[in-house]
Amino acid sequence: MKKYTLDSFSTGGHFGPYGGMYAPEMLVPALQELEAAYLEARADKGFQQEFEDLLRTYSGRPTPLYLGENFSRRLGGARVYFKQEGLGQTGSHKINNVLGQALLARRMGKKRLIAETGAGQHGLATATAAARFGFECEIFMGEVDMMRQRPNVFWMEQLGATVTPVPYGTRTLKDAVNESFKNWIENLEDTHLLVGSALSAHPYPTIVRDFQCVIGHEVRSQMMQAEGRLPDVLVACVGGGSNSLGMFYPFLGDEQVEMIGVEAAGLGIGTGRHSARFQGGRLGVIEGYKSYFLQDEDGQTLGTHSVAAGLDYPGIGPEHAWLHDLGRVKYTGATDSETLEAMKLLMRTEGLIPALESAHAVAEAVRRAPAMRPDQLMVVNLSGRGDKDIFIVAEALGDRAWMEFLRSKVEAADHGE
Ligand SMILES: Cc1ncc(COP(=O)(O)O)c(C=O)c1O
Repeated sequence: MKKYTLDSFSTGGHFGPYGGMYAPEMLVPALQELEAAYLEARADKGFQQEFEDLLRTYSGRPTPLYLGENFSRRLGGARVYFKQEGLGQTGSHKINNVLGQALLARRMGKKRLIAETGAGQHGLATATAAARFGFECEIFMGEVDMMRQRPNVFWMEQLGATVTPVPYGTRTLKDAVNESFKNWIENLEDTHLLVGSALSAHPYPTIVRDFQCVIGHEVRSQMMQAEGRLPDVLVACVGGGSNSLGMFYPFLGDEQVEMIGVEAAGLGIGTGRHSARFQGGRLGVIEGYKSYFLQDEDGQTLGTHSVAAGLDYPGIGPEHAWLHDLGRVKYTGATDSETLEAMKLLMRTEGLIPALESAHAVAEAVRRAPAMRPDQLMVVNLSGRGDKDIFIVAEALGDRAWMEFLRSKVEAADHGE
């Protein structure tokens, strides 16, 4: 295993050959302003204290680390713990980074937050923080994602945000990312672009990772308290890469701790309808950073697929690309159907309803735990809870009563009831 370089600020945001600040020239001063503001805030004890207080009093941290005894027994191998990020405010880990960046934006004197969103969880968290801090807020979302994540769109609007549909491209997250960049260029003076995952141009991958590290720090102390030692294996799903890095990063120096990132294998890698960047992706520079992307011969991003909107994205954060090449983190994939099966198993054995994104990590636990010894410890990050996915899951499971319920609601609305 090659040595890992931790300080990405001294490398200009490069993680080995990946990352960097490949942004349009007019954005570079704004990114440099953000970098300077963040470095100052990071060294400011008052800022850190306010962040910690917010996470505790507003978001409900620490989130529990729960031993799934029934789930573990059913699989017959490792003791599997679940880190319950879905119990935080707005139902996913996204709020950790959003609260950090909202504090940073306020410190920089910005009046307006804009963000891209796929599953809607990042948009929801941003709209929530905007309401809490009194920012104006606009969220960009692909039309396809708006259709499949309607509950989150509804709540963002109720929280006072404008949700702007993006009608071009594949009408998913990558198009929302482009649109948010465009809007930022037009409004640099008063607007902070609140990037929701550990990607984009430097300094975002590092800022987002740092704010998400609270997950890994908590897992470390909770595991020491529960078992008196570090876990053997950490598992997390990887969209852009923030919940996984947040959990992995504080353990990177502990060589005995194995880490597995789970990408969306969609309908199967062979079908080409997936979002697994490490299984068919190639080196590219897109949306401000160098990393692995699913792209064609001409460097155009390919359409991706996943049952989980939050994993349905052609790029992966640059630090993951580096950790992949170093072999420090192993990457695997879970298909849509493996994910749904894993979700059902977790619901039936533990009464936990994971987000579809997080259920990809559960699917890896289902595969791997049986081959481990009963004294070995695995932690699965439940990055979010599944409430938002009720429409998709009910459809995927062919629940006729739910379809009837929807039809009756539509009819009632048509009749003005
Ligand atoms: C619940 C949940 N988990 C995971 C992700 C994937 O993002 P990341 O890889 O940045 O954690 C998302 C993205 O929307 C999400 O909503």
